[in-house]
Amino acid sequence: MKIPTKKAGNFELPVLGFGTWRMGGEGERDLNNDDTKDVTAIKKAVEVGLYHIDTAEYYAAGHSEELVAKAIADIPRDELFITTKVSPWNFKKDDLIKSCQASLKRLKVDYVDLYLLHFPSDEIPIAETMSTLDQLVSEGLIKNIGVSNFTVPLIEQAQAVTKNKIVNNQIHFSPTARAHIDNGTVKYCQENDILVTSYRPIGYYKPKYKHLSGEIAPLEPSTNKQLIEDLAKKYNKTPSQIVLNWVIAQPNIVTLFKSTSPEHIKENIGSIGWELSLDDIDKITNEYPVGDTINVPES
Ligand SMILES: NC(=O)c1ccc[n+]([C@@H]2O[C@H](COP(=O)([O-])OP(=O)(O)OC[C@H]3O[C@@H](n4cnc5c(N)ncnc54)[C@H](OP(=O)(O)O)[C@@H]3O)[C@@H](O)[C@H]2O)c1
Repeated sequence: MKIPTKKAGNFELPVLGFGTWRMGGEGERDLNNDDTKDVTAIKKAVEVGLYHIDTAEYYAAGHSEELVAKAIADIPRDELFITTKVSPWNFKKDDLIKSCQASLKRLKVDYVDLYLLHFPSDEIPIAETMSTLDQLVSEGLIKNIGVSNFTVPLIEQAQAVTKNKIVNNQIHFSPTARAHIDNGTVKYCQENDILVTSYRPIGYYKPKYKHLSGEIAPLEPSTNKQLIEDLAKKYNKTPSQIVLNWVIAQPNIVTLFKSTSPEHIKENIGSIGWELSLDDIDKITNEYPVGDTINVPES
């Protein structure tokens, strides 16, 4: 299926992309992980049209990037859009260059389409980091630069010290995670041609902030389960399809999801190709209980 795209300035992303957090492990590699299952899921995702794959050097301490490499080995590079991220403790010039080279090596590619600063750093001066990203762009190792978990002042500080346009901000955003609307980040990105990528549109932590369960937000006990279930019935869709459709109905926002289940991947693809009515989009916006948003910097 051809996934529709959204554009901000000259930068374009498909409305649905595929995430790889918890593939191969979490912050460390899990030697007991079922890598074959993860590789099969990434292959399945690409097969059904999800050509944007999101990973990070942090995920499974680089092993997630290796799993992506295995999954995409037979796919022409120009048919894929690959995003990876550098961790804040590697934001110094020499570390950043090494991180980027190591990610490319693990991914077995010559370049990534989008390279993100995974989180803001309190310690390393942003000017050093951004000028190093400029160097990596000029060397052709990264095609576009972006940030993740950045709020407006942080984006402005970063943009002021790079020759390149910051084209993307990847943030936690879902019917329940709305801090980046309240703090003005989404609006700022809309007005400044920065495409927003929503992460964790359907998953949630249970118990809080400890582990990501396979359950989806509409079924989280504290939420308005009935609202999403009623809409699912009305549109003959599933709750996750309703939630994903609501996320990508937001101007300037595209989303990622992760799944190792072929059934869920197929189901989630069914979130596109139809539209919630404006009334129902507003209904979710107004009636869905707002919960926590993770990784919102204070500044
Ligand atoms: N920049 C950042 O700081 C940051 C932070 C978090 C995430 N991300 C990126 O965003 C991607 C997506 O976020 P996420 O993985 O945290 O959360 P998510 O995609 O919202 O949720 C993933 C969880 O939902 C389950 N799931 C998926 N589809 C489902 C369905 N149709 N029905 C029931 N359960 C379903 C998955 O289980 P199954 O595998 O069993 O389907 C998995 O446990 C990540 O993988 C990562 O690439 C970035």
